[in-house]
Amino acid sequence: MFKFILAFFLCNFTYSTSEARPPAENYVIHCSGCHKPNGSGSPSNLVPDIRNIIGHFTKVSNGREYLIQVADISQAPLQNDEVAALMNWVLREFSSLQLTKEFKPYTEEEVKELRENRPADLHANRRKLLTSLQGKGIVLPDYVRP
Ligand code: HEC
Repeated sequence: MFKFILAFFLCNFTYSTSEARPPAENYVIHCSGCHKPNGSGSPSNLVPDIRNIIGHFTKVSNGREYLIQVADISQAPLQNDEVAALMNWVLREFSSLQLTKEFKPYTEEEVKELRENRPADLHANRRKLLTSLQGKGIVLPDYVRP
């Protein structure tokens, strides 16, 4: 009996440490406090709406990178593989219509590289992305920050 109980606890232990938490749960824990469960954000608190918007960033150069490097994602207390899975889920969940067919899911290695090499001024970077998107006829709604 003792051996059985021990085996039971060891199995549970292995499960809880080796299985990554599903992205939908990580969204609730790490993102929804600001972005809200439905992704609407809270513009009055300077939190942008991500619904039907963020997929557009994957259409211009540096946009894919920006989505990982934006402060709250890059600095979330998550492993690189969890960030990759979370962003693949977030893009499909909240902005699938804006994703192109060519979109390739983020990988752990890509996220690692992007988190280690973040540009200094992400807001300036975002403004450049908006200009590139406008060049393609895509105008995003007013952003919460100047
Ligand atoms: C503490 C509040 C907060 C949390 C938590 C948070 N965000 Fe954000 N998020 C923001 C703010 C504020 C911005 C605007 C960018 C900036 O000011 O840095 C933003 C920007 C973004 C953007 C870029 C949107 C755009 O239009 O440029 C995405 C995508 C995003 N967040 C997703 C997430 C995800 C996914 C998580 C969970 C890992 C998360 N955020 C957690 C506040 C938050």
